[in-house]
Amino acid sequence: MVDVILGLQWGDEGKGKIVDYFAPRYDVIARFQGGPNAGHTLYVQDKKVVLHQIPSGIFHENTINLIGNGVVLDPITLRKECETVASFGIDYKKNLFIAQRAHIILPTHRALDKASELSKGNDKIGSTLKGISPAYMDKTGRNGIRMGDLLDKTFTTQYIKLRLKHQRLLDSLNFQEDILKWEEEFLDAIDFMREFNIVNGEYFINDKIQQGKKVLAEGAQGSMLDVDFGTFPFVTSSNTISAGVCTGLGIAPQKIKEVMGVTKAYCTRVGSGPFPSELHDETGEELRKIGQEFGATTGRPRRCGWIDLVSLRFACMINGVTKLIMTKADVLDAFHELKLCREYIVDNKKTTEVPYQMTKVSIEPVWQSFKGWKKDITSIRDQSALPVEMVEYVQFIDQYLGVKIKYISNGPGRDQLIKID
Ligand code: GDP
Ligand code: IMO
Ligand code: MG
Repeated sequence: MVDVILGLQWGDEGKGKIVDYFAPRYDVIARFQGGPNAGHTLYVQDKKVVLHQIPSGIFHENTINLIGNGVVLDPITLRKECETVASFGIDYKKNLFIAQRAHIILPTHRALDKASELSKGNDKIGSTLKGISPAYMDKTGRNGIRMGDLLDKTFTTQYIKLRLKHQRLLDSLNFQEDILKWEEEFLDAIDFMREFNIVNGEYFINDKIQQGKKVLAEGAQGSMLDVDFGTFPFVTSSNTISAGVCTGLGIAPQKIKEVMGVTKAYCTRVGSGPFPSELHDETGEELRKIGQEFGATTGRPRRCGWIDLVSLRFACMINGVTKLIMTKADVLDAFHELKLCREYIVDNKKTTEVPYQMTKVSIEPVWQSFKGWKKDITSIRDQSALPVEMVEYVQFIDQYLGVKIKYISNGPGRDQLIKID
């Protein structure tokens, strides 16, 4: 049996905290897509930790963590993360497994990412510059190097061949930066990777399922960054939605049970691209300040706005969300008035559908206002203590989306999660 936790907006919904909270209920936590563009924040022994590629179950002693075939893996980042995890006394080699079919991010992928963004000028995607798109391009272009290749004697030849190809591309883009330093670090990290449990991920996970073990698939990014269904071209390069669980781990769709969709009580986006409910005023500033909305991977300020129910309903539909989890509700404590976007006006016509492309049309949000609760909710642990104004806000969202909010997160801590019946 497999459950899924994934983001319903543009990433950074608080997936890391939620996965870490639910991890003790599962035997295996598996990442199925993305790579070091992700930054999942957890608190371990009151210390903040940001995980990029290692699944968020790593701090639980009896939990197995799998990096699935759908992930693109950067050896340099992985080594750094492993060092962080080890500093908490965790023996990561025991509980971390990597699929042979996962593709590797090379230093030249990172350089190509940067070169491509520079060449786009004002139209840049706002990529995290971690080499994600070039690595997935080499996967679909059938050139990439995979984890299993590290153990093969042809690895060096494969690497040199691909690196030369990349160099020609970089030359054509007039990319001048020296990547030799990255390369040295990379080759060192490759040796480190060879010591891992490199497994046949699809047999590994299906065997566990067969044995009756419980698997939790951890999404990275968010549904609106999905390469097919997001705000293309301002998206990432993987399928971030629940369908990605099947291709990114090698499991059949009927094995998936719960799809838990995480949304903030408001909305943020980092990088360029459409964001209909974005606020460019003081309220937006306030959300950023109170919510500490700065990227966990790049430190960039996140764009902020009210929650967008049009895109959320779309995300619930394409993911088959069975339960909603609302995070950062405490960030709204200070606001007299809350708003949510319940319709779009696209080129002067009202709609509740997400257009196939959002960059060439004008989109205006239709707002609905709610009274704020103006109360500190961070120490509430039981649903009965929630302010009535908040219950009204949550019920409206439940009804609009046709899926119930089952948990409300009211602070970054592991214990700050309220179950809703
Ligand atoms: P992820 O990428 O979805 O895992 O999310 P990030 O870690 O990038 O960003 C979420 C941020 O919000 C982190 O700094 C979390 O510690 C923090 N966070 C998570 N849940 C809550 C919450 O309920 N309230 C507050 N105030 N912060 C939260
Ligand atoms: P988590 O897992 C928020 C955004 C980037 C950029 C676009 C493409 O922490 O939620 P890429 O590096 O993939 O080529 O960037 O996607 N992006 C994220 N935004 N959270 C993330 O991950 C993201 N991963 C990528 O900012 O707009
Ligand atoms: Mg993040």
